[in-house]
Amino acid sequence: MKCFYIFKDKFKNKKGQANSAPEPRDQSKSNSSPLSRTAKSLPSPRSIPELYKEKEHNLRVFSFQELKEATNGFNRLLKIGEGGFGSVYKGTVRPASGQGDPIVVAIKKLNNHGLQGHKQWLAEVQFLGVVSHPNLVKLLGYCSVDSERGIQRLLVYEYMPNRSLEDHLFKRGPPTLSWRKRLEIILGAAEGLAYLHGGMEVQVIYRDFKSSNVLLDKDFKPKLSDFGLAREGPTGDRTHVSTAVVGTYGYAAPEYVETGHLTIHSDVWSFGVVLYEILTGRRTLERNHPVKEQKLLDWVKQFPVDSKRFSMIIDPRLINEYSFNAAKQIAKLADSCLNKNAKERPTMTQVVEMLKQIIQDIEGGNTSTNRNAESSQSNLLRRKQNKV
Ligand SMILES: Nc1ncnc2c1ncn2[C@@H]1O[C@H](COP(=O)(O)OP(=O)(O)OP(=O)(O)O)[C@@H](O)[C@H]1O
Ligand SMILES: [Mg+2]
Repeated sequence: MKCFYIFKDKFKNKKGQANSAPEPRDQSKSNSSPLSRTAKSLPSPRSIPELYKEKEHNLRVFSFQELKEATNGFNRLLKIGEGGFGSVYKGTVRPASGQGDPIVVAIKKLNNHGLQGHKQWLAEVQFLGVVSHPNLVKLLGYCSVDSERGIQRLLVYEYMPNRSLEDHLFKRGPPTLSWRKRLEIILGAAEGLAYLHGGMEVQVIYRDFKSSNVLLDKDFKPKLSDFGLAREGPTGDRTHVSTAVVGTYGYAAPEYVETGHLTIHSDVWSFGVVLYEILTGRRTLERNHPVKEQKLLDWVKQFPVDSKRFSMIIDPRLINEYSFNAAKQIAKLADSCLNKNAKERPTMTQVVEMLKQIIQDIEGGNTSTNRNAESSQSNLLRRKQNKV
């Protein structure tokens, strides 16, 4: 499913040089005013462009020719995906040292979307250049060329042989993802998000959490990709970042769509949507279903978790395989992530804890531990509500 733009951000572009390294964004520094910080003695948190300056040497700068050769002239037979902003190709590049076996990579070639495309590309290079976590995709390098014939922006990632969670949940072809695998994948994705929200000097709001952005490596280990829409979280006593409303239909939190106020809680909402995707095997919008069943979140509401009808929403491909108690826990967790009141949603760290507990209980394999999972989840949610 492709990204949407309701409004476009205004972007003050500084034109890049041919094959130049990306320049830090011309970011408004309004959030980092010393007056907006509460503790004077604390060192100022650095912004993503500042952190990027320290780490940019880790990224490889590719020439356009190198990437053209790597993909056999962007051959459509090597095309492995297409999103709202460009096509993704499988390719091989020479190791940076020039020695050793070629490296298999995924190359995203952005369509010519002018400044908006450049802005996304730049955000992706800078965020992925700074972050480092086993559940975030590794960016190996990039290519940036401006010439009279137009601009070219490309990104070179580690290749993820099992494509995306979306490909496995909704496309015919790959064998059904087992219940266990689904839970492990969603746990890894939650860990990636928790790291972005709280594991670095700067808080990062991902803004585009969806199953097509959860990529799977050879062992089905999940890694989040696509940082083109990521934003730094609010600093000082600010509660949110004000932005143009961008994202993907079906995944964006309602308060964000209505106000443009972006917080980490919006990512938690999107996470709740993906939890229902893994539970039901349905997309956020299923145009081929009867009207009442088309919107995933409206449809699942007709089958509340504590009702007898609940099991009817479970992906039929999981029949006889999933644990009913764990499925209920996942639905409860999803409902808490989808709380209309953004502040009442759990944090991603709490989500990680709950998922670990659910998986641990399945391994324990008895109903009493399933009850424990239920009570530990309610405790966590209660703690969250009481802000202990
Ligand atoms: N590093 C990678 N390794 C292997 N396959 C990838 C990689 N990156 C992307 N893909 C494939 O390409 C597809 C398209 O990715 P892309 O990010 O361009 O679009 P999208 O996520 O579907 O939509 P959007 O443009 O809204 O993000 C992915 O769903 C995945 O199947
Ligand atoms: Mg994507």
